[in-house]
Amino acid sequence: MDYFSDVGKDIIILAIESSCDDTSAAVIKNGEVLSNIVSVQTAHQEYGGVVPELASREHQVHIVPVVDAALKKAEVSLEDLNAVAFTRGPGLLGSLIVGVTFAKSLALSLDIPLIEVHHMHAHVLAHYAESPHPQLPFLCLTVSGGHTQIVKVHSHLHMEILGQTLDDAAGEAFDKAGKMLGLPYPAGPVMDKKAQEGEAKFAFSKSKVKGLDFSFSGLKTSILYFLRDQMKEDPEFINRELVHICASVQKSIIVMLMDKLKLAAEQTGITEIAIAGGVSANSALRTTLEQTAVEKSWTAYIPAFQYCRDNAAMIGVAGYYKYLAGEFVDQDITAEARLAF
Ligand code: KG4
Ligand code: ZN
Repeated sequence: MDYFSDVGKDIIILAIESSCDDTSAAVIKNGEVLSNIVSVQTAHQEYGGVVPELASREHQVHIVPVVDAALKKAEVSLEDLNAVAFTRGPGLLGSLIVGVTFAKSLALSLDIPLIEVHHMHAHVLAHYAESPHPQLPFLCLTVSGGHTQIVKVHSHLHMEILGQTLDDAAGEAFDKAGKMLGLPYPAGPVMDKKAQEGEAKFAFSKSKVKGLDFSFSGLKTSILYFLRDQMKEDPEFINRELVHICASVQKSIIVMLMDKLKLAAEQTGITEIAIAGGVSANSALRTTLEQTAVEKSWTAYIPAFQYCRDNAAMIGVAGYYKYLAGEFVDQDITAEARLAF
């Protein structure tokens, strides 16, 4: 099989993402997104968090219709595809296996190359799904439900973690605080909405971790004790003050993120600054980044909402750069829940 015999022709990639609780498929042509279908699983809401077994089962049900929809929207047939890209990890093993197995089977049956993608690289490369995109090298604050990282992006294929969380991720901090407040899972978007009506009038303890690493567990404990003490005195405290508590929690998280991002920019001298991942959909984080960019003379890059959360378009964009570099994998590839960065 000579994959490069068609140099100069269009490169059409089908991308699959199934690392957590959303099943997604996208079609990318020469690096441009033709379709990006996401099926959001709602089965987890009543459990207050993602139930891995339920997630795998839902992926099995949704993967074929989601791929069909992505091909249809892109007006592309299976025979037009030049490669299949998939998320190899990190993520929930059962969820990953569904996407990996599907991608391997399809690539084998069509006799086209297979491209593995690292989920966190893809969140960063989501910035290349749109224009204008950051100039290399740039810094990316990737904030999701499972990760919080400051990444120095040297090239599309070479990235370096400058700092990361030592415990909870930023999205997890939103979700856990939301759970204490009785908000549904995932609490991040709900807190964002409520916070817009509130004032950040409560202060919580900040992380004392030095350098570019993060820690959110102290904040979580501080919120827990604060709520416990207030509720003892006034059982209606959460109901009455909900929007203000949300605004205060959100502000604490954003200050912690921005302090480290500013430090990273200072240390590296880089002024091309991006955010990525589910939490980059947060309206206050987006505004704060824009304001800081003006103050610090940065150029800020904020993804469109569809590219913040988990989506296959970002996997396809990452896959496109790997295709150009000839980075393909064999059929013996396996899903890796803890895939190294
Ligand atoms: O990147 P993502 O979709 O999935 C992971 O790879 O984890 O991120 C999901 C996380 C959840 O913790 C969710 O609460 C958070 O992103 N999130 C938000 C917002 N939208 C999603 N957090 C704060 N504000 C938002 N608007
Ligand atoms: Zn993600």
